[in-house]
Amino acid sequence: MPLGNALLELTASSEQILFEEAQEFEAFLNYLWESYSFDFTGYKRPSLMRRVQQRMEVIAIASYSDYINYLKKSPEEATLLFESLPVNCTAFFRDQQVWDEIATEIIPQIIANKSSDELIKVWSAGCATGEEAYTLAILLIEALGIEQFKQRVKIYATDASQEAIYQARQGSYSRNQVVGIPPGLLAKYFEQIDQRYSFRQDLRRRIIFAQSNLLQDAPISKVDLLVCRNTLIYFNLEGQLRALVRLHFGLRDSGFLVLGRSESPTATTGSALFSPVNQQQRIFTRVPKACTPKLFLKAFHQQKYKLPTQGIYSVAS
Ligand SMILES: C[S@@+](CC[C@H](N)C(=O)[O-])C[C@H]1O[C@@H](n2cnc3c(N)ncnc32)[C@H](O)[C@@H]1O
Repeated sequence: MPLGNALLELTASSEQILFEEAQEFEAFLNYLWESYSFDFTGYKRPSLMRRVQQRMEVIAIASYSDYINYLKKSPEEATLLFESLPVNCTAFFRDQQVWDEIATEIIPQIIANKSSDELIKVWSAGCATGEEAYTLAILLIEALGIEQFKQRVKIYATDASQEAIYQARQGSYSRNQVVGIPPGLLAKYFEQIDQRYSFRQDLRRRIIFAQSNLLQDAPISKVDLLVCRNTLIYFNLEGQLRALVRLHFGLRDSGFLVLGRSESPTATTGSALFSPVNQQQRIFTRVPKACTPKLFLKAFHQQKYKLPTQGIYSVAS
């Protein structure tokens, strides 16, 4: 067979294998949804597949159908799988410039637009082990003072991972984990016990940690400042839309949304839901009633917004 034809056949057969694997993986995701009500369909496929396969390698299982049988026989495996899927990496004051902008521009605006006894509602969505929520608490205390903070601020911090939320609630970090906190703030807000640093308990009470899924659960409402950083990147286009619609619902009209450095709502939803306040720092504000989320999702499902049909299953992510 001429080399060109052989190559074409090889490409066609590897595409066929890729297609079959993708179908098996979708059936596997359906099984997770039907058996555990956990919806991974909104996640980018290549990285999700890689993580499931890593878990399968650990227990020496080669196919998704064998893995389903294993899950049926070993109930504890579902927890191990779910906890291994999301990436929990985070840090205090991660990307310093954004936090400078939040401290000098955003928080002062939120305070200025409220009367002195009004509640300030903050939401850290995809908070991982809590560093982002405690960073927000520190900046708000610096702006308001401890007494006002205790009386007026509520920080909701949510994540899909139960284990991450458990650690976040403890508020206890190693020396390595607190390196990003300026020494003055570390001394002011953390108690050092042996080699661990614990966020002050009296202040921790204003932070409510809860397990919650951005793709499935009801959002917090009437939020003034919503920080959802480095979480949308794990979602595919439909997942991003579903999450952004929830974030839009969660914000009050003048509220601010802060995303991660490589994330943008406008790339997915145009200017329908959010408009930029500081594009470079990924800070946006809610577009009030410009296009209701319901209408927006309807337009999406009527194919006015098209899902990419190529590359979803490509090996690189
Ligand atoms: C890379 S961490 C980001 C942590 C923090 N926001 C930051 O930027 O440092 C991504 C977090 O998103 C969470 N996550 C992934 N899928 C989620 C979902 N569907 N709902 C809520 N949280 C989710 C993961 O558990 C993980 O803790």
